[in-house]
Parts: sequence; structure tokens; C-alpha cells
Amino acid sequence: MKRASGERSGKRLLETLDGALTHEPPIWFMRQAGRYLPEYRAVRAKAGGFVELCLNPELAAEVTMQPVRRFGLDAAIIFSDILIVPYALGVKLWFEENEGPRLEPVDDRASFARMQSALDEKITERVYEALRHVRANIPPSVALIGFCGAPWTVATYLIAGRGTENQAPAKSLMQRDETLFALIIDRLVDATAQHLIGQIDAGADVVQIFDSWASSLNEQEFDRWCAAPIGKIVRAVRTARPEARFILFPKGVNIKWMQRLVSVAKTDAISLDFNADRIRARELLSGTCALQGNLSPEILLAGGDAMDREIDQILEDFRGIRHIFNLGHGILKETPIAHVERMIARVRERA
Ligand code: CP3
Repeated sequence: MKRASGERSGKRLLETLDGALTHEPPIWFMRQAGRYLPEYRAVRAKAGGFVELCLNPELAAEVTMQPVRRFGLDAAIIFSDILIVPYALGVKLWFEENEGPRLEPVDDRASFARMQSALDEKITERVYEALRHVRANIPPSVALIGFCGAPWTVATYLIAGRGTENQAPAKSLMQRDETLFALIIDRLVDATAQHLIGQIDAGADVVQIFDSWASSLNEQEFDRWCAAPIGKIVRAVRTARPEARFILFPKGVNIKWMQRLVSVAKTDAISLDFNADRIRARELLSGTCALQGNLSPEILLAGGDAMDREIDQILEDFRGIRHIFNLGHGILKETPIAHVERMIARVRERA
């Protein structure tokens, strides 16, 4: 039965995560607050920079709510960054305009010794304040998503001091000094669990763990450095907050590996990237968790009939299972707003 347009059941995203099959899939998308929106660019200019925006609770809350207001999405994802965790562990963080984030590298015993063992609350409190502000200002039907990076992905930036093509500096440290590499991962596991608990306490209904570089490891390394640490984080958070909900995004990983991740880290949903095999994911994963995804950001950028056809195919492939409509990775900054509107309308009309 089709619901009247505009009618929204309470927190459709949470119902889907909790096991219900909703008529329309909930919709939100990765990097939904960002540079493709003129209102984001205006606030970012006012904040003075990217890190400054992340650490300004009022402005971070404002940009978090912008896409929700504009598009009527089912969820808000807190505006922050995965690199706030190392920053709150005392690692210098800045943003090179038109390039990306930079960190003071932690790649030897001396730099690791300078890293703090616990999060600086003066920094994380700013994220929690932004979450409380958003919670108080969005309708109850909109879910609030907190997030973090997976230890492996954060370690690739932390060890190199920047984003890299092939994650070579992190892989090289893993070979050179496995003990130190394990200490870095353990430190990130503890800090990340703490940060997720803080976000849940501040009002996050669900948290997503981004493992954007999971695919750069081999199978054994994936089990050890991606799946096991994520499993530890999920267990630590659930021990403290038994009701916590998780979405995991192991980007680029095949469905068999995802299946192992799901068995190690019991998750409420898996987010599929744009290359994922939907039919296989449906076969192997949909019995255990909800599936999120996976329109290609490039297809959204191109728009038009090809985009409509791909959306229809995604809805078809996931019909009858718990599905959260999303992109297969973050929205590209050149994306026309009209394409985003068309995508959302198409999903709601075709569901
Ligand atoms: O999804 C959302 O809307 C929430 C906000 C969010 C941001 N970063 C804001 C951001 C989230 C969930 C992230 C996650 C993140 N950050 C990841 C994992 C997801 C992914 O994309 O793979 C990673 C690897 C980072 C680290 C990071 N932050 C990089 C590599 C960059 C530069 C790349 C780029 O797009 O410029 C950032 C900057 C960043 N984080 C921006 C935004 C909106 C762009 C900053 C700007 O305004 O110029």
C-alpha cells in the first residue's frame, strides 16, 4: 500500500535497522553535507577552514541540518571527520586547501610516545555539543547518525600524515615493526570506542564505521587489521551501551570477506560501495543485517535517464529485503543539486 506523500513513519531508518521491512527505503547519503551545497560553502567560509568548522558546534550543527532541510532526508549525519580521533589524541591536524587533510605522522616509536593515551575531552565535547544541538533541532522522524573511521583507515592517514594512493606507508610499517603497528591500532580501537559512546550519549541513534581503505589489504590482513579491530570496537561499545546500532562500510571488499566481518562484528547494516555485487550481498548478507547503498557517485553526477535506470535496478535488486538507499561512496563536489533531487524523488516514487 502506498502511503500518502509527505507522510513519514517515525524514524524509518531505525525501523529498518531494527528489523522491519519499511515500504519505502530510508534515504540519506554519504557526505550529504558538503561542497556541492552553496549553503555549506557559505558556512565553511564563515568558519575559516575545514578543521575550524568541525570544531565549531553551532556551525557544524548548522551544516549537518542543511541537507536534511533541503531534501527531507531520513537521517542527518553529524558533520565531523574521521581524523578528529587522532587530533583528540594530540596529533596535529590541518587542511591543505584543494588537497586534503594533513597530520603530523605517527610512524615510529618516538612519535607514538608523543600520542596521548586518551581522547582530549575539550575537543570531543565540541562534537557532542554539535550532536545535542542537531538532536534538539531536527524532527523526531529524522534519525541522527554518528560516525568514526575504522582503525585501519585512520592508521593509513596517521602513519603517512596524509591521504595516499596505495596506503604504502601504513603497509610498510606493518611489515617493518608489527608490534608498533599493533600498538597504534589498539590505541585507535580504545579511542574510537570511547568516541562512539560519547556520540551515542549525545544523541546519535546509530553509528557508522568507515573503512574506506579496507580493500588495500589481503585476506589475512583484512581479518586481522580490519575485521578484528572493528569487532573489538563493536563489543566495547555494546558492553557499555547495549542498545547501540551499527552500520559498517568496508569499502571495496568482496561479499565473502564482508560475511566474515559480519560474523566477527555483529552489525545492524552493511554499507555497500558502488562496485559491490548486490545479488550476492542479498544472498549472503541480507538474512543477518540490512543492506545500505549503493548508487555510484559518478552516476549521480551524470544524472539523466541512465541514473533513473540504475536507481530502478538497485530498488529491484533489494526489493523485499531491508534496504537503506545511499550512495556507494561520498557525493562528488561537482554534483548538481537537481540530480540529487531527481534521485530522491525517483526512489520515493518507485519504491
Ligand atoms: O557524510 C557526511 O556528510 C559527514 C561528514 C564526513 C566528512 N568526512 C566531512 C568532510 C564524513 C563521514 C567523513 C568521513 C571521512 N573523512 C572519510 C571516510 C569516508 C570516505 O570518504 O572514504 C575519510 C577517509 C576522511 C578523511 C578526509 N576528510 C579526507 C581524505 C578529506 C579530503 C577529501 C575531500 O573530499 O576533500 C576530508 C575532508 C572532508 N571531510 C570534507 C568534508 C565535507 C571536504 C572538506 C571541505 O569542505 O573542503
